[in-house]
Amino acid sequence: MGFAENSQNLLSRIANGNGHGEDSPYFDGWKAYDNDPFHPTDNPNGVIQMGLAENQLSFDLVVDWIKRHPEASICTNQGVNDFMELALFQDYHGLSTFREAIAKFMGKIRGGKATFDPDHVVMSGGATGAAETIAFCLADAGDAFLVPSPYYPAFSRDFGWRTGVKLIPIVCESSNNFRITITALEAAYQKAQEADIRVKGLLINNPSNPLGTVLDKDTLRSLVKFINEKNIHLVCDEIYAATVFEKPDFVSISEVVEETKECNRDLIHVLSSLSKDMGLPGFRVGIIYSYNKSVVNCARKMSSFGLVSTQTQHFVASLLSDDEFVDRFLSESSKRLAKRHNMLTRGLKEVGIGSLKSNAGLFFWMDLRSLLKEPTLGAEMSLWRVIINDVKLNVSPGSSFQCSEAGWFRVCFANMDDETVEIALGRIRKFVALQVKDNNSSESPPLAKKPRWMNNLRVSFSRRCEEIIMTPRMMSPHSPMPHSPLVRTRT
Ligand SMILES: Cc1ncc(COP(=O)(O)O)c(C=O)c1O
Repeated sequence: MGFAENSQNLLSRIANGNGHGEDSPYFDGWKAYDNDPFHPTDNPNGVIQMGLAENQLSFDLVVDWIKRHPEASICTNQGVNDFMELALFQDYHGLSTFREAIAKFMGKIRGGKATFDPDHVVMSGGATGAAETIAFCLADAGDAFLVPSPYYPAFSRDFGWRTGVKLIPIVCESSNNFRITITALEAAYQKAQEADIRVKGLLINNPSNPLGTVLDKDTLRSLVKFINEKNIHLVCDEIYAATVFEKPDFVSISEVVEETKECNRDLIHVLSSLSKDMGLPGFRVGIIYSYNKSVVNCARKMSSFGLVSTQTQHFVASLLSDDEFVDRFLSESSKRLAKRHNMLTRGLKEVGIGSLKSNAGLFFWMDLRSLLKEPTLGAEMSLWRVIINDVKLNVSPGSSFQCSEAGWFRVCFANMDDETVEIALGRIRKFVALQVKDNNSSESPPLAKKPRWMNNLRVSFSRRCEEIIMTPRMMSPHSPMPHSPLVRTRT
């Protein structure tokens, strides 16, 4: 036996397994981008990164604030007096100024329609750490959470890799704009019961990654009713709360809980982060806000494994306590997101490419079903490879979000400048023109006509959904690139 084989046995089963999700076709796109990244002058034919849910559109506002507030950073003449106290502080409750600022910010971005108690704020290493911590607090290995599909790929890793918790998709479909129905929810619950899997909770993401849509109040009320009836938890990942750029407004689960008398609040937990709302993923500020005191206590102890550094807490407390800045940032950020979203979706519409109507997030859900040769995962992957290798755009295929229908792709729009967007649109126009030309020769323009298979989506996909339940594929976008000089995380 060689050394390499032998060394495998030296590691744990988890370390040897693929729970992180890196070993998946999804990463081909990341690798394609890393191998050939677009640059306007150095590499104009490179791959454009549209698979990264980063909010870079309002960075200048934060930079400007930093320049005007040198006292908020401890590595400046004006701030260095706080250095010693902060360098020594290591209490896992966190700085009180930080928790107060976060609680206030959470209320503000929910339009003041819900209030948050700083004593219920638990910090974590990004929403990633928050998700794992809440999974540890609420469920044992082998237990499951129901989650509406399509959903954020790294939920499998965050909820399940180290905890052994499973995710069971609630199948949502394009026929009703991927809304969550109680019928689909009951069906997923029933399937778990039949497979003898204990369901500990329901996990939702509002606004949704990848859909870019918000849940309405009635849906939220029905979910609260459902989890109360079943006596299971409701975990709401609201990390895109402040990215809503058009009507309808965002409704937080907290608003619904405050209005609902018949709700056991011990079952409700909100995840938050500054990664998307403020565009600060590198700061690793994640939050668990639980209404359940025991969960708060347990999560706080567990947060020892992923504290936010006091330097960052101190900075964030100063930044978020500046009401005038936060108001201006939020208003300007949503204007810029709306403008960018419209620029791309309209540009695509002009060439016949539709997308799910959305009003939030840093991405939209592009509909390329009419370009598939057949309604299968294989056809989706083939089209995706053409888009990456020939069109040179890294968009993310719906299958990596456990979408129940082939042909949907997530397109991120806030991680690049306007010029790059124009270039991306130009490439898509060219690609579509070629497709139309090819199909004209076979006398059926692809983008105008709905292929016959599209009428029969449910039947073709029922088997795939079974497979997803039995063997959830792990496709995580946060991943170190093996050949990258830096270990970079991705969203
Ligand atoms: C829905 C969702 N939850 C959690 C995360 C992780 O966020 P963070 O960078 O705060 O760990 C992401 C990142 O893309 C996300 O889209």
